[in-house]
Amino acid sequence: MQSDFETDSVRPNIPEYSILIIFGASGDLTRRKLMPGLYHLSRESLLPEYFSVIGIGRRIQLGEEFILHMQNRVRQYCSHDMEGRYWKPLASKMSSIRADYKEEATYETIKQKILSLREEWGNQPNILYYLATSPSHFELIVEKLANHNLHNETGDSWIRLIIEKPFGLDYNSAEQLNSRITKHFTENQIFRIDHFLGKEAVQNILIFRMSNVIFQPLWTREYIDHIQITSAETIGVEGRADYFEQTGAIRDMIQSHLLQILAFLTMDFPQDLNPENIRDEKVKLLKAIRRYSVEEVSKYLVRGQYTEGVVNSELIQKYVDEDGINPQSKVETYAAIKLFIDNYRWRGIPFYLRTGKRMPSRKAEIYIQLKQPEKSEIARIFSHKAPITNSIRLEIQPRAGVDITMGWKSTGILSDIESTQLTIGGKADIAEPKAYERLLVDAMVGDSTLFPRYDEIQELWQIVDPFLKYCEIAKEENIDTLFLYPAGTQGPVEANNFIDGEDNHWTEI
Ligand code: BG6
Repeated sequence: MQSDFETDSVRPNIPEYSILIIFGASGDLTRRKLMPGLYHLSRESLLPEYFSVIGIGRRIQLGEEFILHMQNRVRQYCSHDMEGRYWKPLASKMSSIRADYKEEATYETIKQKILSLREEWGNQPNILYYLATSPSHFELIVEKLANHNLHNETGDSWIRLIIEKPFGLDYNSAEQLNSRITKHFTENQIFRIDHFLGKEAVQNILIFRMSNVIFQPLWTREYIDHIQITSAETIGVEGRADYFEQTGAIRDMIQSHLLQILAFLTMDFPQDLNPENIRDEKVKLLKAIRRYSVEEVSKYLVRGQYTEGVVNSELIQKYVDEDGINPQSKVETYAAIKLFIDNYRWRGIPFYLRTGKRMPSRKAEIYIQLKQPEKSEIARIFSHKAPITNSIRLEIQPRAGVDITMGWKSTGILSDIESTQLTIGGKADIAEPKAYERLLVDAMVGDSTLFPRYDEIQELWQIVDPFLKYCEIAKEENIDTLFLYPAGTQGPVEANNFIDGEDNHWTEI
C-alpha cells in the first residue's frame, strides 16, 4: 500500500506506550475527523503497538457499542474503504468512559485507567489529552486535571495537551484561558490546534514560495493587485448549534484558518524551518496587519446568514430554523473582510478573506490577481479584447493544486490573445481528514511547527476583536448588520460591492 507519509524524508516514529485521551468523544469532531484520522494512521502502521485511545463524554456509548458506533462513523467519513485488518488493531486499543467533566470522580477514573495501563505495559505511559469539547469546558478540564495531578511529567515520559479552536472567544478571554492553562502546563506541553495547517496544500504554500524563483519576485505590491482567500462549505452547522451560536463564522473560520493561511502566504521567509523561526515570522506578519477601530469596521466587513435554498439538489431550511438555533439569531454564517498589511512588501494591497456555510460547493482557495501589464503595442493592437489578467490560484480543497492564467496567441491568421491556464498538481484531496492525522502525529512526536504559539493567538484576536465588538454593539442596539442569502448561492449580493476595481470580482464558488 502507498503510504501518505511515504514521501516524507523521515517516517515519523511515534513513541510507544502512549495514551490518547479525548474529552468530547461523543461529539462531531471525534466522529468526523479524529476517528477517521486514527484509522488512517492504523492503515499506515503509524500507531504504536502499546497504544490506547480513551474517549470521554457525557453521552458516550460504552464497550462494544462505542466501538461499533465509531466503526460506522469511520465508514461514513473516511475516504478509504473500511478494512477489518486495519480497524481491528485500532478497535482493540479503544475504550470509553461515560462521565461529567465537572465531577471529581471522572478524573479518578482516568487516573485508575492510566495506572492500570502502566502496570500492564510495565512502563510509564506518555499522555496526550485532546480537548475536543465545547470551548466553555477547556478551563474546567485543565483545572481538574491539575487538581488530580494528571499533568506532571515524570522521567522521560511526556504529557501534552491539544486544544481545539477557538482559543478563547476574544482577546480578553484568550488571555484568561492562557493564564489558567499555563499555571499548570508549560508552553512546550500545549498544542493549540488549527487543522487547516495540517492540510497538504496549506503546507505547500511555503514550499511553493520558497522553492520557485519564478514566483519569488512577484510576491510584492509591485506586481500583485489583490488577493482573495476563500473557504466555502456546502454543510451547515451539523449538530453543533450550541457551538456555532457562540462563535459565528468570523471566529470559527476567519480568526483561525483564514488568517493562518494569510500569514503563510505573505510572511517573510524564516531563516530555516525551525518551528520557532517559522512562528516568529508569522507573528511579525500578523503584527503588520492594520488594526481597525470599531467605528471604521463596517467599511471592511460584510456579514450574512443563509435562508432557504438548494444545495446539491437538496432543499435546505434557513439557518434560524435549524435544530438548536435561536429563531432570532443574528449569528453570521457568512463573512467577508478586507485587510491591509502595512509593511514594505504589501502596503496598499487589499486582502479579501471570505467564508460561508451552505454555499454551492465545497472549496478553499487562494486567488492572487496580478496587475495588468503596462500598455504596450501588443495590448493596443488587441485592445478590442478584454485584457488578460494574470492570476495564480492555489487550490486547497477539494484538490491541492495551482492554476496559472496567462495570455497566449490563438492559432490562425486572424490571431488574437486568449487566456490559457497552466494547471499543476490537482491531486484530489481524497485523503481527508489527513490534516488531523498529520497533526496527531506531530503532537505525539512533539513537533509544534503547525500549531499556533500563544503570541500568534494574541495577534489574531487583536485583528478580529473590533469586528466582533462591532457585531456585539449592533446586536445590543438592535441595528441589523446581517444580509441574507439563499442557501446554495454565492453569499449576500452586498459582498459584491466590496471588491475594489472595475474589473475585479470574487472568484466563483
Ligand atoms: C472547523 C470549523 O474548524 O473547520 C467548522 O469549526 C468547519 O465549522 C470546518 O466546518 C471545516 O474544515 P474542513 O477541513 O472540513 O474544510
